[in-house]
Amino acid sequence: MRGKRKLVVTTVYEPTLSEIEQAKEIAVFLQLPYVKRGRRSLGNLRKLCQIDTLIVAADSGPKISTPDGELFFHIGMAALRIKNFRDGKPDHMAAAMELSQGVSVLDCTLGLGTDAIVASMLTGERGAVIGLEASELIAFITGWGLANLSAEANDITAAMRRIDVISADYRQYLPTLPDNYVDIVYFDPMFRRPVHRSSGIRPLREFADTGCLLEADLRQACRVAKRRVVVKETHGSPEFKRLGITTLVGGKYSSVQYGVIEQEGC
Ligand SMILES: C[S@@+](CC[C@H](N)C(=O)[O-])C[C@H]1O[C@@H](n2cnc3c(N)ncnc32)[C@H](O)[C@@H]1O
Repeated sequence: MRGKRKLVVTTVYEPTLSEIEQAKEIAVFLQLPYVKRGRRSLGNLRKLCQIDTLIVAADSGPKISTPDGELFFHIGMAALRIKNFRDGKPDHMAAAMELSQGVSVLDCTLGLGTDAIVASMLTGERGAVIGLEASELIAFITGWGLANLSAEANDITAAMRRIDVISADYRQYLPTLPDNYVDIVYFDPMFRRPVHRSSGIRPLREFADTGCLLEADLRQACRVAKRRVVVKETHGSPEFKRLGITTLVGGKYSSVQYGVIEQEGC
């Protein structure tokens, strides 16, 4: 596993055989040590291994446990956004991307996959969603969830399974792609000014790539996108000006906006 952080893989307390199996598989996949949980608390295990971060295998999905909180895959917000969309409420991301059946999307900042699930649902079986994630750990957690967990609705589960997760940095990956490879390239970088009240994203922030989007990355994205490049940022973010993005989509009272570069403007 790349990076300096010291990690080990263990299981939940009193694990099932499948949870032990899962922990061992994760340890092999991420090239990390597996540590038997035994009857130890996570606190004791931390002391024993002299580390603060553990990957805890569980049938409900692996979790990254840190003293600051847990990072795990969950479908909640994606399912809610899909429900709202079906109820006729606007989804500003879908509007900014002009998502419709058959469209292909390259999500350069997959994170926990919420936007990618919504995009996959709206682009359907004829569409395609590829998600790039620079953090190997986040790519693993999201890839596992998308491939193994199920939503309440079968069509959302099918949309999750269609997402192709690639553990890669868009700075290196975009230049390898041919011109006009997908319809839409999407970026949702970590906000320059973290929204601290969003406690759900705090553990993500610890592992995420927090580098900013550069003009050179946008140029690559414009080369790869057939139709448009979309960038999400906080409402009124100076990032839009810095990147030369003038078309903004989003609700008047929404905390985020989507900058759109149409292909002719790329
Ligand atoms: C704000 S989160 C994205 C949230 C995501 N849109 C969702 O709906 O869950 C940003 C993610 O992009 C990743 N990221 C940042 N820079 C990246 C890069 N250069 N290449 C790939 N992923 C990157 C971060 O590690 C982080 O997981």
